[in-house]
Amino acid sequence: MEKPSKIAPAKGKLGILLPGLGAVSTTFMAGVELVRKGKAQPVGSLTQMGTIRLGKRTDARSPLIKKFVPLAELKDLTFGGWDIFKDNAYQSAANAGVLNPQDLEKVKPFLSTIKPMKAAFDHDFVKMIDGPNIKKGKNKYELALQIKEDIANFRKTSRVSRLVTCWCGSTESFVKPEEVHSTPEKFVEAMKSDHPAIAPSMLYAWASITSGVPYANGAPNLSVDIPALQTLAHDHNVPICGKDFKTGQTLMKTILAPGFKARMLGLDGWFSTNILGNRDGEVLEDPGSFKTKEESKLSVLEYILQPKLYPQLYGKMFHKVRINYYPPRGDNKEGWDNIDIFGWLGYPMQIKVDFLCRDSILAAPIVLDLVLFLDLAQRAGMRGIQEWLSFYFKSPMTAPGLYPEHDLFIQSMKLKNTLRWMKGEELITHLGQEYYD
Ligand SMILES: NC(=O)c1ccc[n+]([C@@H]2O[C@H](COP(=O)([O-])OP(=O)(O)OC[C@H]3O[C@@H](n4cnc5c(N)ncnc54)[C@H](O)[C@@H]3O)[C@@H](O)[C@H]2O)c1
Repeated sequence: MEKPSKIAPAKGKLGILLPGLGAVSTTFMAGVELVRKGKAQPVGSLTQMGTIRLGKRTDARSPLIKKFVPLAELKDLTFGGWDIFKDNAYQSAANAGVLNPQDLEKVKPFLSTIKPMKAAFDHDFVKMIDGPNIKKGKNKYELALQIKEDIANFRKTSRVSRLVTCWCGSTESFVKPEEVHSTPEKFVEAMKSDHPAIAPSMLYAWASITSGVPYANGAPNLSVDIPALQTLAHDHNVPICGKDFKTGQTLMKTILAPGFKARMLGLDGWFSTNILGNRDGEVLEDPGSFKTKEESKLSVLEYILQPKLYPQLYGKMFHKVRINYYPPRGDNKEGWDNIDIFGWLGYPMQIKVDFLCRDSILAAPIVLDLVLFLDLAQRAGMRGIQEWLSFYFKSPMTAPGLYPEHDLFIQSMKLKNTLRWMKGEELITHLGQEYYD
């Protein structure tokens, strides 16, 4: 990848397209509007609150990231989406119950105008829900063409100059990469023949990429993580990223595990269990959808702790993840971690984490950062997988043959160094010998 020589300015409006107008999407849109109205702070968003150090520690240059790189401004964002239910974004947000009624009331007129377009849906992929707002077509290819039309119409009617899509739809059943996912041609043939390995999220990804629209995947579905769509992303100069927003328990894992490894503390086992009662929790009751989520959550420790490199410390670790649907909790998940570690001479110790988290409150700023960074990447001429956005994902997408980087602190350094690189600033290695010369 060549260093961008010039980054096009963020002129005009940026349209955000969200397949899935559920808890995360509506919390994201409501939050952007509350921030725009000056009624809330964008807490959790690196693009809005984060700074970036430039040059030496003695230079005292730490601009806000949004002043350092030309990001779209919140006032220029406009929203659209698809869902299998007909509820507008206000009704959907009220149903999700993430935000309290007082906050929702402040943005009711704005959210009520956002009405979902008809969804491309396949009940085989999300077994626990069904809805009336669904596209009809002869085959999957026709559905994908209808999504393309939706994108073109949205572009025209909302008069945006650029678009980004972020999948915030339900977790789909587990699909393994197959031959039909290998090339753009085979993928189109498979859509035409209604192949069972073509999931709805892939149709949105195909339609976005072939419309020149960047695509982020917030769920663990394979979606855009297949060679056919990656080749298309390259050919259409479209940046893509995924998979699965890194929010509650996995965020904690990627904060704690790098610390254990850095201090060479051993790990016998890590048992994680969750209760949650939102629609996402209900969808995850289906073993197919749970398997997709489980794969995404399990790989994290393997990659961070590298048991092959450290067999004495991590060779025998036992890692288990459980998610239980428990309606009384709604979106307010509780995640327990029991961590069995060992120290000097193998003496055992235990750590218990009880995270009473709010899933969508943690996910919303991630959606904001991703759409702004993907738009930036496209204006900087970057295309294909954006590994520097790993920071936001449970299962970061990488080039073939490359293992993903899961350590949150390495991911953060990678993200910030990419921004420095884009702007021609010196990369920061933290060596710091120059202060002692
Ligand atoms: N912290 C988090 O909340 C978090 C973290 C990581 C990943 N995710 C993932 O983000 C996604 C959204 O989470 P949520 O809590 O908003 O879930 P949600 O159930 O509230 O919303 C998902 C919406 O997608 C819709 N949908 C399903 N299939 C669709 C299709 N084919 N086309 C259009 N719409 C479709 C559903 O009707 C639903 O309204 C889930 O896949 C979830 O696993 C969420």
